[in-house]
Amino acid sequence: MKFFIDTANLAQIQEAQELGVLDGVTTNPSLMAKEGISGDANVKAHYKAICAIVDGDVSAEVIATDYEGMIKEGEELAALDEKIVVKIPMIKDGVKALKYFSDKGIKTNCTLIFSAGQALMAAKAGATYVSPFIGRLDDISTDGLDLIESIRIIFDNYAFGTEILAASVRHPMHIIQCAEIGADVMTGPLSAMEALLKHPLTDIGLAKFLEDHAKANS
Ligand code: G3P
Repeated sequence: MKFFIDTANLAQIQEAQELGVLDGVTTNPSLMAKEGISGDANVKAHYKAICAIVDGDVSAEVIATDYEGMIKEGEELAALDEKIVVKIPMIKDGVKALKYFSDKGIKTNCTLIFSAGQALMAAKAGATYVSPFIGRLDDISTDGLDLIESIRIIFDNYAFGTEILAASVRHPMHIIQCAEIGADVMTGPLSAMEALLKHPLTDIGLAKFLEDHAKANS
């Protein structure tokens, strides 16, 4: 399972990269705005800065919602760095744009996936990744993991090459459950990744080991 970090914060991306388990980064317009990044030149410079830190795919989202606009923006983003994956929203023109980029060999991530039908459409159009937002489904009392399961079955039935990128991951159990189902990738905050490595018995056990070692060597 690949681990992507879902942020545009350079310090957190650097920290995750140094942990040694990072496979890529996802961003979105809200995450860019949260870091105070605005204006075309600054946005592009920020994507380049992210690419300089991480070894792996970096999703950069288009703002346009019409086909021509998405193609223009997506081509500009893809030209920034070979790590860039053009992130396209699941709308009708977006499906056409996915097909365009797929035919050109440019990687894509179809975002805002909330149903298996949307994932199927994106896969048919040749998306590299589909991003089902599991946390946001949980937020409206729907089980986001059911969607991951359904997409897994569909993609396996037809051997689609499109990877399931579980997005809107909020906590470590989301990661574990996505791994059990077989999501190819998860994207979430650094806190969810770090929570995976914690266990109170590990801390208690280590404290005891060190205490015993200190006694034996005093
Ligand atoms: O990047 C898309 C997705 O991961 C957003 O997550 O937490 O805003 O629902 P969230």
